[in-house]
Amino acid sequence: MTRFSQFAAGLAFAVAASLSAPANAVDPTDLIDYRKHVMKSLGAQAAALNMTLQGKAPAESFAIHAETLALVASTALMAFEPKAEGGDAKPEVWAKYADFSKRMKEFAAGTAELAKVAKAGGVAAAQPMIQGALTCKGCHDVYRVKK
Ligand code: HEC
Repeated sequence: MTRFSQFAAGLAFAVAASLSAPANAVDPTDLIDYRKHVMKSLGAQAAALNMTLQGKAPAESFAIHAETLALVASTALMAFEPKAEGGDAKPEVWAKYADFSKRMKEFAAGTAELAKVAKAGGVAAAQPMIQGALTCKGCHDVYRVKK
């Protein structure tokens, strides 16, 4: 082996080792922080969407916030997949994971549909769908610790 190929092999090993390490050593605090960040992003986009409807923010941003909401919603279930009890998530998230994941998938599908309609038809077409798509409270009532 040349020096360079020895170096390259060593580097490849180090990269492989660092990539495989987190699988056994994920800090539960990181898992909880991560899903809170995802949820906060949803909160920010829902608030921004509302402001566009109230005339307090540019109306043309409505569809963008709907699309961003849908994009974040599509990642939300992944953030809850690793079981890390704590934060404000009730243990029921994992005890009733079939129901929880069904709700999260429906939420992602609903916001995706909302985004599509918002893009094609604007506020007029999408507004009636908002309440049905933003199922935030329904899930929080069951799966989030009340403050
Ligand atoms: C299918 C269930 C589900 C849906 C749908 C859902 N959430 Fe959540 N959300 C949770 C759970 C569970 C937590 C608690 C997470 C934790 O503390 O570990 C949470 C926490 C939050 C938090 C607090 C984050 C923090 O920093 O503590 C916000 C804000 C939030 N959600 C906003 C939203 C908004 C806005 C929507 C809808 C647009 C939404 N969520 C939809 C389950 C859901």
